[in-house]
Amino acid sequence: MTQTSRPFLPFVKPEIDEETIQGVVDVLRSGWITTGPQNQQFEAELSAYFGGRPVRAFNSGTCTMEIALRIAGVGAGDEVITTPMTWVSTANVILEVGATPVFVDIDPATRNMDLNLLEKAITPRTKAVMPVYLAGLPVDMDRLYEIARAHKLRVIEDAAQAFGSTWKGKRIGSFGDLVSISFHANKNVTSIEGGALVMNNEDEAELARKYRLQGITRTGFDGMDCDVLGGKYNLTDVAARVGLGQLRQVERFTEKRRELARAYFDAFDGGAAVRLGVGLPPRNFTDSNWHMFQIALPLDTLQLTRAQFMEQLKERGIGSGVHYPALHLFSLYRARGFGEGMFPHAERYGASTVTLPLFTLMTADDVARVVAAVDEICEQYGPNR
Ligand SMILES: Cc1ncc(COP(=O)(O)O)c(C=O)c1O
Repeated sequence: MTQTSRPFLPFVKPEIDEETIQGVVDVLRSGWITTGPQNQQFEAELSAYFGGRPVRAFNSGTCTMEIALRIAGVGAGDEVITTPMTWVSTANVILEVGATPVFVDIDPATRNMDLNLLEKAITPRTKAVMPVYLAGLPVDMDRLYEIARAHKLRVIEDAAQAFGSTWKGKRIGSFGDLVSISFHANKNVTSIEGGALVMNNEDEAELARKYRLQGITRTGFDGMDCDVLGGKYNLTDVAARVGLGQLRQVERFTEKRRELARAYFDAFDGGAAVRLGVGLPPRNFTDSNWHMFQIALPLDTLQLTRAQFMEQLKERGIGSGVHYPALHLFSLYRARGFGEGMFPHAERYGASTVTLPLFTLMTADDVARVVAAVDEICEQYGPNR
């Protein structure tokens, strides 16, 4: 039985309220639409959210990470350890600053960097570590910082997906070293495109401000100057106003996502998918912001490929995504000597993972509909059909 009569359920959809839309209209009418008062307000509210730490906003999570690497002094000759289970930009920015990405495999239980392997991958050239909190689940933050301290490494947290996540009750970003957030349209909190960097002190924040706009130190009637090589990474005030409207709802968003994730586990419980070996994500309801709900398909036993599975979902009016194929197998990284068999857990997970719909506008009925479809497809294409 197909469910095509119902409206298509995408795998993600932002919730932008009327107050935010009106706020954007006001900004557009204000006469100042690029970086200005809305950015200042956004940075101030972000800083308050992160316990008063300095924050600067940027026009993507990608450039935020790149600037964090520059602030940490990472460059040619340095190694930066990260995970292959991430969006491509995590490793690309390491290349961008002239450093060498070093991958370590994931822990299959969390799908995040295996911290035991991190320790083994440290060499005299290692300058920094870039953990990624896949789907918003942090790594063991105590252990991460213990290792970083012991080896005098900078930590650039790729917390792109972890806005609203916590560790032992403390917000991710409210402690630690350099913490990079993304406000891309699919993130829990969005500014359409955008990012923010949480830093340790005002010197770093001043450097971030300069890197954000051409290294400019001075503009005015008395002339202009720049003293570092900066880029064009500033956020528009229209985007900042969207971010402000979203930021003020982050707790509600996180709570709703946790509720939906719980509904997923309940609906999957005892069903065909789980019986046939579909892997569910780590059940964490204390730290994770539930940025995504990702399952892993038992492709050895199912009689269809992942693409066919996603096509079957689509035929039932349900969108899905892949986050992510293992990054070291992308051509850019293969050309740098990486290949199959190097990070088996990431490869296995990357080949079998499917992201199911999860966004705050969904209902428990939507979750039931997705799980019914997954169960039905698994039953239909299971080993005993
Ligand atoms: C893990 C991770 N790192 C980095 C990024 C880059 O963020 P952006 O798309 O804002 O550049 C993203 C989001 O796309 C991400 O999910």
